[in-house]
Amino acid sequence: MTNATSPGEGIAFPAGFTWGAATAAYQIEGAATADGRGPSVWDTFSHTPGKVRGDDNGDIACDSYHRYREDADLIKSLGLSAYRFSIAWPRILPSGAGKVNQAGLDYYKALLDSLGERGIEPAATLYHWDLPQALQDLGGWAVRDTALRFAEYASIVAEALGDRITKWITLNEPIVVTHNGHRIGVHAPGLTDDAAAAAVTHHLLLGHGLAASALRAVIPSGTPVGITLNLTPVRITPGANDEDAANLERARLVSDAFHNGIFLDPVLFGRYPEHAPPSILPPAGLIQDGDMATIAAPLDFLGVNYYQPAHLRPGDPGHLLRTEEPPLPGITGVVQYRPDELERTCMDWLIDPEGLYELLLRVSKDAPGLPLYITENGCAAEDYLNPDGVVDDRERVKFLHLHLDAAARAARDGANLAGYYVWSLLDNFEWAYGYQKRFGIIYVDFATQRRIPKASSAFYAGVVRSNAVPPAPATWPS
Ligand code: FCB
Repeated sequence: MTNATSPGEGIAFPAGFTWGAATAAYQIEGAATADGRGPSVWDTFSHTPGKVRGDDNGDIACDSYHRYREDADLIKSLGLSAYRFSIAWPRILPSGAGKVNQAGLDYYKALLDSLGERGIEPAATLYHWDLPQALQDLGGWAVRDTALRFAEYASIVAEALGDRITKWITLNEPIVVTHNGHRIGVHAPGLTDDAAAAAVTHHLLLGHGLAASALRAVIPSGTPVGITLNLTPVRITPGANDEDAANLERARLVSDAFHNGIFLDPVLFGRYPEHAPPSILPPAGLIQDGDMATIAAPLDFLGVNYYQPAHLRPGDPGHLLRTEEPPLPGITGVVQYRPDELERTCMDWLIDPEGLYELLLRVSKDAPGLPLYITENGCAAEDYLNPDGVVDDRERVKFLHLHLDAAARAARDGANLAGYYVWSLLDNFEWAYGYQKRFGIIYVDFATQRRIPKASSAFYAGVVRSNAVPPAPATWPS
């Protein structure tokens, strides 16, 4: 059933549910040259004029490199049991390979100590997009060697920190690295090269598989290892006749392969998706014997990031109407569109909690028994500190309420959902949007680095405390 909760109900999450918040190294740490850190592709990209809005960069960001104790206190004050952060490869291996930078490892040891002292479980992501620039100079993810270097880095981190990290995520959202970074060029390293993007897809997946095995060779057995994918449910508005239905079904398969199957099918089933547009598939010559088995070694969990779905309806790609977009190559009689009835965030992303509900049930069906964690979900809003010193982010409260409601219903209806990490703990460097887009449940005054919990953090803490999402209000405050 997909009906939204009616007032008065409220839904409990499963017992033992993990409640957390997420961040990523380049977005919050700052201290870009401190203690031997080498440059990453994001340093290079953000320092190239015109690449990031306002020419912002992550040099200082939230200065979490120095303020991690205060941030750990904030996590604790919200009652969260878990924190998802990422480890900066260029802090550990400033040139990507070779000499290890002990100071970088020491920083993460100190962070892990702080979390441990406060009873917060660390979930570490090894790669949240900050490839050492030295490896990019050798070809980056478009060359196979980078996958091997990634596994070496994983092994070094596991040796040093493996006794404290309780959940490992190899890669964050590899599709954003391929698509935004190599196909359309709006993220580092800023390439617009379909062939490179297809090669990057395979080498990221191989890097995931090799790193998972390198981790498992070192860390205490039973410590879960997974990957985080941002998944995009493809939702259909039916047409009037059989031809529409056939076109929509074809478009759904292609779109699903493009957004989801391209990473999901290799890790779950050891094959690239049959319906993917040929231009995104890695050429057979890049796929060596044994690669697909390495990539498909069983996951202990899947991290799911959810922001918005894709909507398809019958239409004429040659004559697009308002809110319609050209479909993927090879699709006829169907357009992608943005339903008028759905609200949007200030990123212009659709707000569609039912997409999350559908997605969780669908992945649970495709991968029976695999624990799922929502490793990111949240929204940007036009937050400001009001004269009373309060950030009353009602849009985010509503967004979280509706998405937590969808997650709780999905778990109740059979999804194998084990946890939720809100994106994000803090306002931070939002990649190509710089500091203009605020995703935090805690406001950051970037001039002073003061942290101010927003209304949404109090709402979230309440959900965490009761392990249940409250009934939806009869009307939402505006
Ligand atoms: C995801 C990223 C995360 C953040 C959110 C808004 O794609 O993983 O770093 O930028 O989007």
